[in-house]
Amino acid sequence: MTQKKKIINVVGARPNFMKIGPIHRVMTENESLYPLLVHTGQHYDEKMSDIFFRQLEMPKPDVYLGVGSGSHAAQTARVMEAFDEVLTRENPDMVVVVGDVNSTLACSLVAVKRHIPVAHVEAGLRSFDRRMPEEINRIVTDSISDLLFVTEQSGVDNLEAEGVSGDKVFFVGNVMIDALVHFLPKAEATGIAAKLGVAGMDYTLMTMHRPSNVDNETSLRSLVTLIENVAALSPVIFPVHPRTGSRLDEFGLRERLDRIDSLQLIDPLGYLQFLGLMKDAKVVITDSGGIQEETTYLGVPCLTLRENTERPVTIELGTNELLSLDPVAVLDRFKAVRKGRAAGSRPPLWDGRAASRIVDVVSDYLA
Ligand code: UD1
Repeated sequence: MTQKKKIINVVGARPNFMKIGPIHRVMTENESLYPLLVHTGQHYDEKMSDIFFRQLEMPKPDVYLGVGSGSHAAQTARVMEAFDEVLTRENPDMVVVVGDVNSTLACSLVAVKRHIPVAHVEAGLRSFDRRMPEEINRIVTDSISDLLFVTEQSGVDNLEAEGVSGDKVFFVGNVMIDALVHFLPKAEATGIAAKLGVAGMDYTLMTMHRPSNVDNETSLRSLVTLIENVAALSPVIFPVHPRTGSRLDEFGLRERLDRIDSLQLIDPLGYLQFLGLMKDAKVVITDSGGIQEETTYLGVPCLTLRENTERPVTIELGTNELLSLDPVAVLDRFKAVRKGRAAGSRPPLWDGRAASRIVDVVSDYLA
């Protein structure tokens, strides 16, 4: 029997877990592949990391690098050094990275310099905003990867415009939607809306963590005003990312939020609880990348407080709208979408089978 091909699947930060989960599962079932899971430890808390492994039914990482938080340079460098040692030890046939976080960039760079093929899942997305750290991570990772797995047509177009050879590019759909489809029944069974006292109500679900929104006091103040406005019209659930929590304390804004009766400021939620809440929300307000896609799949109106999106299909076909952080303008749109808007449609190949398509390409490539 020919030897199984060893693949290292990399996760680092919260939005990676629901993307690698489905791929790792399908690879485990493939008799020609031997997948290992490496967690860089970019995110490390129970609520930012561990709970996702349990809820997404992922095995414990084979290797945990424990790099933790730090500046972009320090974090990226720590991942690179530690991952290099893993590659020396394991000598895999391929490294698979997902998304656009610092761990994605760091691990792809280390692998490619050792002439190990790299597959990038969620390739080709572009916000065309180089002030976003994720945009740099995307551009660099795509430019050095051997296989580029794309979630939407814009990704194919962007890579072509950058001169990437078409034979590296595979439009396979969206692995995050694989996880959503698989876990939706369990998400519904959490009864999270009832536990938070909003079952059957027209509640708003909110997340906010981008440095451009939360790291500067003026924007964070606008955000607090926006929450005051929205919470006057509907119950608001806001699971707070650690970055945002620190900034609310630093700028002395938490007291203003504590005074809003219809707002629940809570710790970051598990995957199933968040999905359960998102599915039944009347409106979602966010600056996340992935949530724009999940709300599009679920048909829930999403107001994204950013100047741009690397996921334009969520606007063209889906339920997403981009808005700048202007509390009055956002409130107007909030009132409009609450009344109901034309339902969007699901983008092509967002069907729960993206991981199988990826694994087929990977096993052919390594055969
Ligand atoms: C990272 C990603 C971003 C992604 C986000 C999801 C990059 C450049 N950014 O941003 O694309 O949308 O994850 O969360 O990779 N912290 C904890 N516990 C943790 C992890 C972080 O408390 O488990 C705190 C630390 O104070 C840390 C801060 O959160 O300094 C920010 O974490 P970091 O990994 O630097 O970036 P994110 O803002 O989470």
